[in-house]
Amino acid sequence: MEKYVIKGGTVLHGEVEISGAKNAAVAIIPAALMVDGVCRIENVPQISDTDMLLTILKELGAKVRYLNRSTVEIDCTKVRNQDAPYDLMRKIRASYYLIGAMLGRFGSSKTTMPGGCNFGVRPIDQHIKGMTALGAQVDIRNGYVYAEAVGGRLHGTRIYLDKVSVGATMNIILAATLAQGRTIIENAAREPHIVDLANFLNSMGADIRGAGTDTVKINGTERLHGGTYTIIPDQIEAGTYMVAAAATGGEVLIKNIIPKHLECISAKLRETGTIVQEYEDCVLVKGASSLRRVNVKTLPYPGFPTDMQPPMGALLCLANGTSVITEGIYDNRYKYVNELRKMGAEIQVDGRVAVFEGGKRLTGAPVQACDLRAGAAMVIAGMCASGTTVVEDIHYIERGYENFVGKLNAMGAEIEIIDFPEEEENLKKIISVS
Ligand code: UD1
Repeated sequence: MEKYVIKGGTVLHGEVEISGAKNAAVAIIPAALMVDGVCRIENVPQISDTDMLLTILKELGAKVRYLNRSTVEIDCTKVRNQDAPYDLMRKIRASYYLIGAMLGRFGSSKTTMPGGCNFGVRPIDQHIKGMTALGAQVDIRNGYVYAEAVGGRLHGTRIYLDKVSVGATMNIILAATLAQGRTIIENAAREPHIVDLANFLNSMGADIRGAGTDTVKINGTERLHGGTYTIIPDQIEAGTYMVAAAATGGEVLIKNIIPKHLECISAKLRETGTIVQEYEDCVLVKGASSLRRVNVKTLPYPGFPTDMQPPMGALLCLANGTSVITEGIYDNRYKYVNELRKMGAEIQVDGRVAVFEGGKRLTGAPVQACDLRAGAAMVIAGMCASGTTVVEDIHYIERGYENFVGKLNAMGAEIEIIDFPEEEENLKKIISVS
């Protein structure tokens, strides 16, 4: 079992190149299923979530070929099989995009209930509402979601989302792209990856307008053609390195980014006293000698992203004074707080509100990556703590950060990936029980 062993007290200096956006890639890869021809996708992040989706496409019969580390060619022209492997699908949240993509391509889909990080209840009722409105019959049986377009093809319609949902907005865009007629999504999410998915589909012949606003209009097309598309840089990966630079009191140039996507994070970091200088496609972050307290509320884009909440939480343990985080998206996104407490953090949680008594010295401890972004928070806390921190369950981190340890070590972190043999683990458990 691999773990990160982090030597604390390091300060990040240097530069880091941001990879392609995970949350765009995990929708664009399934979207390739709808394309009649070869899609060349550039800036694909090398993370386990994209690997899994590419494996799913291969199992369905797609030809998938890497041209270099981040460029992949996908040809789904000959895909006939709709039976995606259950075990792979249930591991990732984004497998729900196969519903929209398969409904568009085949008029029917069979997928699992999505997996992914556990932040409490994560229903897919808005996805189902959208597919049903487009004319699909949706049934959930034996762990599978079955959807079938009545009459063989979906029909455009007007859909009002009861909740601002990134996944539902993107899934409905996918399904509506090859539907007959016009679809209008109201109260749509506005995240940058939604614009990226729409741009990808438009570059392959779709007609989607308004992505990035709360009303998206899709004129259904008969077919999509192949082409080349470059995925945008990852907002959350960039934000994580910005917070890591600020928390360690370092100075880091974060390259290959879109500064506009980071405004909410830059603004909050500036409130802590951190210097953030924006350039055309990079941002320089200079940590302050002492961090100030701030309050944070997570909201849909362009608000402060919920995925940045745990890394920001790690930073607020160090900021002087009392900071309050209010989680505006999920019911249960504070599991990582218990892990920070093991390192000496003082945090009270009441429902969606967490109060951080900052200015504490963190001390290294064995901690768990409870989920992807919580894992990143543990690594940031570990770099700032005195002594050694061991982070378990790092497979979560590898779902969404390309070469996380390599990038951090290149900036002065001291993190080793150590394989702890299972027998040793079991032995430790036996010893601790007896
Ligand atoms: C996506 C991101 C995730 C991010 C989240 C919010 C991917 C693969 N994941 O997740 O990293 O944290 O956006 O920015 O892109 N909801 C419903 N019914 C639904 C759908 C959602 O009630 O049918 C609720 C959710 O429980 C949550 C809120 O709406 O409380 C927002 O969820 P949503 O935007 O859909 O998140 P995901 O697409 O799952």
